[in-house]
Amino acid sequence: MISLNVNGVQHALDIDPSTPLLYALRNDLELHGARFGCGLGQCGACTVIVDGEATFSCLVPVGAIGTRRVRTLESLGSAEHPGALQQSFIKHQAAQCGYCIAGMIMRAQALLERNPHPTEHEMRSHMEPNLCRCGTHMRILAAIREVAGLPAPKSGAPAAQPVPAAKTAS
Ligand code: FES
Ligand code: FES
Repeated sequence: MISLNVNGVQHALDIDPSTPLLYALRNDLELHGARFGCGLGQCGACTVIVDGEATFSCLVPVGAIGTRRVRTLESLGSAEHPGALQQSFIKHQAAQCGYCIAGMIMRAQALLERNPHPTEHEMRSHMEPNLCRCGTHMRILAAIREVAGLPAPKSGAPAAQPVPAAKTAS
C-alpha cells in the first residue's frame, strides 16, 4: 500500500511503487488536471506542487513521495469558483488548446507562494521549463504578471534577456 497525501486528503493506494505520480493522480484518484504530454520531463504538462516545489509528476515514482504533500490544479479552485491565477488566465485568454495550462498554473502558483512579488526576470526564469506548443506564452506571462502585481512591459521596450535553460527537470 502506498500512502499519499493529495490536496489535503490522505489516500492508501494499492499500486506498484514505481508507478509515476501522474498515473496515480489521473488513474487512481481521478484528478485529471495534470496532463500527460511527453512523459520525459520535457514539457511540463504534468506539473504539480510537491511540498511547495513545482514538480514534473511524470518523472516521480509514487513510492518516492513519502510524507510530502502533493497539490494539483483541483486544489486551487473549480469552474464555479476559480482561484486567482485561474481567473487571471481566463481574463487574459491564456489558453489556446489548453493542454499546457494546468501545468503552467501550478508552476506559477509554486512561485507566487514562495515569492508573491517576483521580478519580471524571476517570473520568466521560473516558468521556463514549461512549454506551450500553441505559443501563448505572452498571454500566460500577462496572466501571471497581473496576479504578481508586475507592471506590463512598456511597448517599444527592448525584449527581455533570454533566461538560462533549466539545469534540472523539476
Ligand atoms: S508529461 Fe511532459 S514533463 Fe511530464
Ligand atoms: S495552449 Fe496549447 S499547448 Fe499551451
